[in-house]
Amino acid sequence: MRVVVSIGGSVLAPDLDARRVEDHADVIEHLAREGVELGTVVGGGGVARDYITAARDLGANEVQLDQIGIDVTRINARLLIAALGPKVDPKVAHDYEGAGDAIRRGDISVMGGVMPGQTTDAVAAALAEYVDADLLIYATSADGVFDADPNVDDDATRYEELSASKLVDVIAPMSRDAGASAPVDLLAAKLIERSRMRTIVLDGTDPESIKQAALHGEHSGTDIIPEGTDDEPSYWAQR
Ligand code: UTP
Repeated sequence: MRVVVSIGGSVLAPDLDARRVEDHADVIEHLAREGVELGTVVGGGGVARDYITAARDLGANEVQLDQIGIDVTRINARLLIAALGPKVDPKVAHDYEGAGDAIRRGDISVMGGVMPGQTTDAVAAALAEYVDADLLIYATSADGVFDADPNVDDDATRYEELSASKLVDVIAPMSRDAGASAPVDLLAAKLIERSRMRTIVLDGTDPESIKQAALHGEHSGTDIIPEGTDDEPSYWAQR
């Protein structure tokens, strides 16, 4: 079984806390010991936003800002690599081929961003498609996909389950509103729809929730079910 885990920067490194990174690394290593082939993608979080805000004030253009964001995601990826044991590829993968090669060799691969104009949400969806993953997990700071921004709207309701095309419909208007925070970006939603990738969006603050979701499909977030099937990854039934 092959799983891609996207760990938001605000989940892995809201501040520089070695213990938190270690806790996430422990879960990734546990999954690897359980026989899960793993690609991980790490976001930039608040540190990326701080750098981007400062560089914008200094007159950087949008591509330059994205490049700064990518650099921060790769620094966070290095943090996770530092915490992972000998089964990790020590290089931050800069493209899908590199990550795919590492996973096929049996190493855990860690990526950050790859190119301007997107976020690591899209990187994780593309990597999952490229390596034919059985499952894609977004460990975010929100407990799933909501019909409105739960930080702003008290009536926001979480979807327990939705189809990939419905995910695109839900995310599209959120992505148009400046400042609104969609749980995954629109490109990621479209890649999930295209690849028919079984996906879970969950609150990854406690890394234990990533373990339960990967191994058993148990979580309190949102299941995104490919169109035309409600099949679960077959390895869940074998456990
Ligand atoms: P993130 O993936 O962390 O963005 O990338 P995010 O979703 O806003 O943050 P969290 O971690 O989920 O809270 C940080 C920034 O890096 C650039 C973008 O500017 C993005 O906002 N980036 C990242 C790219 O340009 N391309 C990539 O492939 C990845």
